[in-house]
Amino acid sequence: MSQKIIAVDGPAASGKGTLARRLAAHFDYAYLDTGALYRAVALTVLTKGQDPANTKAAVDAAQNLDMAQLDEPDFARNLRTAETGLAASIVAAEPDVRAAILTAQRHFGETPPGGKQGAILDGRDIGTVVCPDADAKLFITAQAQVRAERRWKELVVQDTSLTLANVLADIEARDARDAGRATAPMKQAADAHLLDTSDLSIEEAFAAALALVSD
Ligand code: C5P
Repeated sequence: MSQKIIAVDGPAASGKGTLARRLAAHFDYAYLDTGALYRAVALTVLTKGQDPANTKAAVDAAQNLDMAQLDEPDFARNLRTAETGLAASIVAAEPDVRAAILTAQRHFGETPPGGKQGAILDGRDIGTVVCPDADAKLFITAQAQVRAERRWKELVVQDTSLTLANVLADIEARDARDAGRATAPMKQAADAHLLDTSDLSIEEAFAAALALVSD
């Protein structure tokens, strides 16, 4: 029996991760945060003191990515920083980095772990490139200012020197790089439902997302 796949794409801090996790819990599907894979590649490069724009270093890290690291508390904490996010968008523009992690993402969708009947993947190119035949696709967005406020509230707890203006600038730089790259740019798939969460609470956004994927 073929497994169900739900693709959830959108820019940074649009709420796509929260919604994808909630949908996965609702349907009892497996969940994959594909941004964490690009962040892990970036963090590996940064930890070695290398430049994320160094193609060879980034491709090497992607080809040798150890998924088990994602569960290590220190590594997981450093994955979420603004610095790692920005470096992730640099390594993610490299076609050979994307190619190195494409198979693992597709495999997750086709054979969800834990014997689950379906999988939800969130990212930037799930509906367009990774799982173009997904059963349901969402493209989650929100105004940049709203996204920056959400992300700043999360990050300032760890780094009190961070300003809202810094976070907005990072988000805008990341959006531009993610949407402007040549390989698998961030883009709404033609058959994806668009959901703008700017004025929605998490509960409202979840209800709207559930209605769209159940359509
Ligand atoms: O989703 P998150 O903000 O954690 O993603 C970090 C970065 O990884 C994004 O800015 C983007 O450059 C990259 N990414 C990607 N394709 C995906 C998921 C994330 O290029 N499917």
